[in-house]
Amino acid sequence: MIRAAIFDLDGVIIDTAHYHYIAWKRLASEFAINLTKEHNELLKGVSRIRSLEIILELGNIQLSEEDKELYANKKNGWFVEYIESIRPEEIFSGVPELIQSMRDQSLKVALASSSKNAPRVIELLKIERLFDTMVDGTMITHTKPDPEIFLLAASRLGFVPSECVVFEDAEAGVEAAVAAGMKCVGVGSPEQLGKANQVIARTGDFRISQLNVL
Ligand code: BG6
Ligand code: MG
Repeated sequence: MIRAAIFDLDGVIIDTAHYHYIAWKRLASEFAINLTKEHNELLKGVSRIRSLEIILELGNIQLSEEDKELYANKKNGWFVEYIESIRPEEIFSGVPELIQSMRDQSLKVALASSSKNAPRVIELLKIERLFDTMVDGTMITHTKPDPEIFLLAASRLGFVPSECVVFEDAEAGVEAAVAAGMKCVGVGSPEQLGKANQVIARTGDFRISQLNVL
């Protein structure tokens, strides 16, 4: 029986995935790499440094650890600039209602984002009250596809993995949920997220009646 829902942030609650993409694309162009939307799928859900490494691999470029840090910070500076204009209206339609209906049915709800900027995004959206606990990129050692972040969220809520469902838009995130032994609802395309128990186009499309038939 499902007793807790764990939500990814970027691409599940708001379109910050797009801001990550344009910031990485801007950085990639400095290395004469044309970062496409297909490439970008590989960056979703993984850490900032790992994202940079994937981009550098595309261009067959080697950098020292020090330089990697420098470029990752540069990208983050742009990302932080982009997100400052976020308004509460930008939350995906139906998401606050979905989470509230879960809470009304006594489910516990967690946020689990690989992003170190997650607390700022949640603050800008003014949705802290929707979550019983929040786990972000500053609290984990291994990012998705490692299950660490979801296992931490579940233990903070006090549930075992089989009682949890994860909402994810990233292939790495779906893999992490499966590796954690949790049910997973993919948000996006079935081609990309085929390992999820169910795939929906938008988070707000999910019906709470579907929870225990996943
Ligand atoms: C994830 C995004 O939520 O956070 C990734 O899907 C991003 O694309 C990762 O790289 C880390 O984010 P940040 O904000 O800490 O650089
Ligand atoms: Mg995401």
